[in-house]
Amino acid sequence: MADKGLAVGIDLGTSNSCVAYLNGGEPKVLPNADGHNTTPSIVAFTAQKNWLVGLDAKHQAITNPKGTVASIKRFIGRKSVDEDVQRDKSLVSYDIEGSENGDIRVHLEDQLKSPEEISAIILQKIKQDVEARLGDKVTNAVITVPAYFNDSQRQATKDAGKIAGFEVLRIINEPTAAALAYDFDTKKNQKIAVYDLGGGTLDVTILELLNGLYRVLSTCGDTHLGGDDFDQTIMQWVLEKFSAEQGIDLRKEPVALQRLREAAEKAKCDLSTEAKADINLPFITKKEGTPLNLAYSLTRAEYEEMVNSLVERSLEPCKKALKDANLSPNDLTDIILVGGMTRMPKVRETVKRFFGKEPNTKINPDESVAMGAAIQAGIINGNVRNALLLDVTPLSLGVETLGGTFSAIIPRNTTVPTKMSKLYSTVKDMQTSVNVKVLQGESKIANNNKTLGFFSFIGLPAAPAGTVQIEVTFSIDSNGIVNVTAKNVATGQIQQMKVSATSGLSKDELDKLVQAAKGRVISAAPPEEKKPKAEEQTKKTQAPSAPLPFASSLSASSSESPTEPADSEFLTGDMINSFLKDSDEHTGR
Ligand SMILES: Nc1ncnc2c1ncn2[C@@H]1O[C@H](COP(=O)(O)OP(=O)(O)OP(=O)(O)O)[C@@H](O)[C@H]1O
Ligand SMILES: [Mg+2]
Repeated sequence: MADKGLAVGIDLGTSNSCVAYLNGGEPKVLPNADGHNTTPSIVAFTAQKNWLVGLDAKHQAITNPKGTVASIKRFIGRKSVDEDVQRDKSLVSYDIEGSENGDIRVHLEDQLKSPEEISAIILQKIKQDVEARLGDKVTNAVITVPAYFNDSQRQATKDAGKIAGFEVLRIINEPTAAALAYDFDTKKNQKIAVYDLGGGTLDVTILELLNGLYRVLSTCGDTHLGGDDFDQTIMQWVLEKFSAEQGIDLRKEPVALQRLREAAEKAKCDLSTEAKADINLPFITKKEGTPLNLAYSLTRAEYEEMVNSLVERSLEPCKKALKDANLSPNDLTDIILVGGMTRMPKVRETVKRFFGKEPNTKINPDESVAMGAAIQAGIINGNVRNALLLDVTPLSLGVETLGGTFSAIIPRNTTVPTKMSKLYSTVKDMQTSVNVKVLQGESKIANNNKTLGFFSFIGLPAAPAGTVQIEVTFSIDSNGIVNVTAKNVATGQIQQMKVSATSGLSKDELDKLVQAAKGRVISAAPPEEKKPKAEEQTKKTQAPSAPLPFASSLSASSSESPTEPADSEFLTGDMINSFLKDSDEHTGR
């Protein structure tokens, strides 16, 4: 168990990361060694075999495109065959490939690095800067992830924290963290929506706020929609224009592409305040020995037209989140904007049109997530008493059944932590093992969902069909991470079970990386100046349903039952009410 020492909240963003801590009960952002409140989430491995992070890495990106890794969060916890990964692969400056189990590896000179390790290098730099600034060791951290991250992405982020030398107190959802940092009228019952459009991801979360209780009602999102897609749209436009005019494909020229990437992002940001942006890249390439310049102008109207489908796409999760929360836009008291992309006027207008009210821009879109994470660290450490956070799982958890269909066991938007049990029994005489495939997602077709792993019960007593019963408990913890355990009903013994994860680092790999990270030096300029078992919830119950015919001929199930909470991990409705009553006597946190 982590000690109660200093704990930080870290927003590990696709484009920028930010860290905060509680100072006298108030969340405060900790500037990095360069004195900036956010650090670009960029890692570089140089020809001199040095590791650089943040602005240092960004500054050398043009001359070292293959060795500079930006937006690694788009790849963490994903498979190399994923459609989105295939598309993004051609647009990033570095090379990625699949590992033996299909996970992603970044090719840096002669090394292959996992996204976990690259993310860990960013976290290590943050840790280094925080410790230099506070003059103390900091090991405890709450790290945020997009609400719509699945189990593999969460687990991989947690592993990144571990590799960086952190004790990860909790993985929390970015929009929920932003809501924690939102200073609301504590007395009024409010329902708010957080619309978070960052560099790589979109999250929409609907929350109910009352007297310090932050209850997430629903969440939805797109882990592949963010500022990078807007940059890429501008890049495509320039690439096609240049190719049509000059007959040269700049995609084949890493340095030119890197320059264009930066220019496209700059043009995008300029267009948030200007009506026109220039993209000027002198000597971008050579044609028959003669240097060529690239110079185009883009108006805001043209730009808005080309990214219209991306902006409109962001409304789908808004609709779904409202529907899942059983609310209409009129029920919401506030719309909170988070993420750098919400500075784009068209995004604001679109959000305003959809929700029918002016979005609230009071909170800092770059810092509120880290600040909320710091508050959550305070809740866990017992330093913040009158706040209680109840979050949900974004994706349904279930198993594959006969005919390749998906049967949800824990539906999406169930408050976490939660656990549900199912009874399984053998279908054949003398059957000694049962195999089950665990999935996460919303498709009725099992194969369209994310396979988290397979588990098999082995060493079952050879007995007539249906007589051996195993109770399997599927649980999702407060980090949104899935666990599966099994018990032999007759003996009460924990049934021997093998879970083989289909992705992520093995324990051995992780241990090795933790050791390797200890010796890693990140080159950087020296610092300028040198609740009650809170967040937990009422048990969700689920009515028993018909037996599930499993896909595997070896597997079977007989019935399903809600699990009685065996420990104090779960809050009852009474406990929440008593929290609300107590906090009635306080104002604010
Ligand atoms: N003024 C602006 N106008 C338009 N876009 C902007 C502006 N400022 C920043 N951005 C964009 O916002 C994105 C970064 O936002 P942010 O820092 O919130 O993302 P992140 O937290 O790193 O990513 P994520 O939350 O998706 O993991 C980048 O794509 C950046 O170009
Ligand atoms: Mg973000």
